[in-house]
Formats: sequence, structure tokens, C-alpha cells
Amino acid sequence: MSSVVDPVGRDGSAGPAGRDDAADPADRGPAGSTAAGSTAAGSTAVGPTAAGVAAAGEPAAPLLSARGLEVHFPIRRGLILDRTIGHVRAVDGVDLDLPRGGTYGLVGESGCGKSTLGRALLRLVEPTAGTVTMDGVDVLALKGEALRMQRRRMQMVFQDPLSSLDPRQSVESILSEPLQTHRVVSGSAARATRVRELLDTVGLPASAAGRYPHEFSGGQRQRIGIARAVALEPALIIADEPVSALDVSIQAQIVNLLEELQERLGLTYLVIAHDLAVVRHISDVIGVMYLGVVVEQTASRRLYTEPLHPYTRALMSAVPIPDPDLEDSRQRILLSGDLPSPANPPSGCRFRTRCPWVQETRCADEVPPLREVRPDHVVACHWAEQIDAGEIRPRADAIV
Ligand SMILES: Nc1ncnc2c1ncn2[C@@H]1O[C@H](COP(=O)(O)OP(=O)(O)OP(=O)(O)O)[C@@H](O)[C@H]1O
Ligand code: SF4
Ligand SMILES: [Mg+2]
Repeated sequence: MSSVVDPVGRDGSAGPAGRDDAADPADRGPAGSTAAGSTAAGSTAVGPTAAGVAAAGEPAAPLLSARGLEVHFPIRRGLILDRTIGHVRAVDGVDLDLPRGGTYGLVGESGCGKSTLGRALLRLVEPTAGTVTMDGVDVLALKGEALRMQRRRMQMVFQDPLSSLDPRQSVESILSEPLQTHRVVSGSAARATRVRELLDTVGLPASAAGRYPHEFSGGQRQRIGIARAVALEPALIIADEPVSALDVSIQAQIVNLLEELQERLGLTYLVIAHDLAVVRHISDVIGVMYLGVVVEQTASRRLYTEPLHPYTRALMSAVPIPDPDLEDSRQRILLSGDLPSPANPPSGCRFRTRCPWVQETRCADEVPPLREVRPDHVVACHWAEQIDAGEIRPRADAIV
């Protein structure tokens, strides 16, 4: 678990600002208001930020909602007759609301379906079942030009900017491409101006336009990836492990940039990460995913102070505490075994094969629904209240 400098701390904690990478002068923070920023802010029909709405005491209406979303990949066998012998249930019935102008953090261990869920929301992979609506539009029903227009509003930032940027294309060409494809800026001079605006927006000098991805540091490359994502003035950005490939010292700069752009452009984010420290600091709401389903979802601060699902409790117990005295007395909850195969998830509660609180009744037979155990705090565990009250204790050998 890497320790990430708290850039802004939506959970209320303060941290050093330290946005710029002193060792890398071109990797500077964004300039002030730019034409790109003001254009986007002026033309994108987004509501108030989640923070603003929270301050006004009203819940934010979601920008995007998914219900019962499933993505099942067929497993095929046979050289001559290509038979489907099963399915990888990568996403297996997810309900999700992305707060407009806010950030939803999605966490869970490798292989639990985070990327597939993110890609399904953008229709980069076709869902097997379920619905996705954005501003009331049925995203899964869109075809042709309507789908193309919708895609402008939903963009993705990838984990590894080097592999997501074409090494043979200059930055100018990378950033011009979406402008050309979607015909948002006509004429090469206007496009060149827009490319420089975008570079300025993400804190890169105009001279970056003539260079190629390999000439930049990891942090700078991620800035290029972010510039490409905001080029079409989207409403939603899905950032899949946006800082996992970066040095810890650079991570905070990129997280800060994402937050500044959100504020300036009114963006809604889904941030996917396996690192709880990363999502904690940037998320308004966090969803914890296990084997294709969301098992707990609530406000970021509450998830960290009052985790209710046994899986979340175990994840939290692995996070080091900065206070040495508290750290010495920290109890870790050990999860035995690996993530079961998503092709053959356990019956009843999917977490039961690793759950230190597993009970002889219900856990193996009944699928626990995601239910509101506390206000705005949903948990998929039959025994969440009894575990929280200490009436059900974890297995002794799971505590170290
Ligand atoms: N195109 C595909 N075809 C078949 N199976 C796939 C495909 N894409 C993903 N999977 C499987 O779906 C499951 C979920 O994968 P996914 O990449 O969504 O997980 P993840 O949570 O993003 O993991 P990581 O943290 O390692 O990125 C895995 O078992 C994976 O092997
Ligand atoms: S339902 Fe049972 S197995 Fe599942 S998390 Fe709760 S206690 Fe553990
Ligand atoms: Mg992934």
C-alpha cells in the first residue's frame, strides 16, 4: 500500500499542496483560467458540484445511473466446433449512481471487475444485461450518430499513458484527432490553437505539441492523456487507475490536476483504484466491489470511519495508521485464499469462502441484497448489524 500525499482531502484531512514536480519543470500545474476551461465550463450542461450541493443540504441528482448491470464473457472451447462452456461473470448485477459534478471511487482487488464495469458504462464493452442512463438518456439503446454524440460526453483516462498513447503520433496529432473526428473545431489553425489551450489546461507548455509520448515523464504523459479526455468537453470521465503507474511523488500532482479540472469544467468522475488511499482523498462516494458485485457503498468519510461489510473491514485493517502508537495496536484481519473464479462464484454470499465472520445459516444459501443498513450506507451482508454491534465475532485465527 503506497502512502499518497493528501492533495485536498475531501474527507476533511488537510495535506501538503505540493502540486509541482520540481525535478521536472515542464510537469507543472495548470495555469489559471484558459479559453479551453471557460469554453467547457460555459457550454457543458452540468449541475453544481457535489460539494456545492452537499453544502446546500440537498442530495445531488446522479449524472449517470446503472441498474442490474451485467457483463458476462463467454468461455469458449473446441478447435472445430467453437462451444461456449461457461461465462466469466466479470460484472454480475451492479447498481450505481454517479453524483453529478462529484467523484465516485470504485475499489476492490485485482480481477473483481472494476475495469469491465467502467468500460461497460462507456459501452467500450457491451453489457449482457441491465440499464445505463445518463441525463435520462438510455445509453445502451443508442446507435449510430446518437451513440457517437453520447461518446463525446463520456471519456476515459487509462492507467498506463504510455500504452494508451500512440508512440508514432505527436502530441499535436494525438490531441487533434478527437477534435477532427467529432468535427468540433474546423480548420488546422483553430485546431492548433485548441491543442495549445488543452496543453495549458493540463499544465504543459505549448512546445509539448511537437514532441512524442516517449519524450515525456510518466506524470507528463498522464497529463497528455487527461488533455485528450477533456478535449471534447465531456460531462463524465472514467479514470481507470489513473495514478497507479506513477511514482508516489507524482501521484498527488495528477490527483490535484483532476480535482482542479473537475472544479473548473464541472466534470463528474468515476475513479477506479485498488489503492484505498488514492480514492479516499478524491471521492465523495465510494463503492467497494467484490467478485463482480458492489458489496458496500457510502460517503467516503463514512466508509473509512465506519466500514460495515466484512470485506471492507478487512481492506481497511490493512491500511497503515500514521500514528505509531495506534499503528502498533492495529489489528489486521486476514483474508484466507484468493479471489474465487468469476466463472463460478460461491453460492449465497460471494465473500463467504473468505469471510472471517461467516455464519452457518444464510451465508451459503441466500444472496445478500445491497440494503440500507444506515442512512445512505448500503451493505450486502446478512449480518452487518450483528457484526457492527459485536454480537458476531470474527474467527480468532483471522485476527493478527
Ligand atoms: N475480454 C475479456 N474476456 C474474458 N474475460 C475477461 C475479459 N476482460 C476481463 N475479463 C475477466 O473479467 C474479470 C474482471 O476483470 P477486470 O479487468 O474488469 O478486473 P479489475 O478489477 O479491473 O482488475 P485489475 O485491478 O487487475 O485491473 C477477470 O476475471 C478477467 O480475467
Ligand atoms: S453474508 Fe455472511 S459470508 Fe457474507 S459478508 Fe456477511 S457474514 Fe460474511
Ligand atoms: Mg482493471
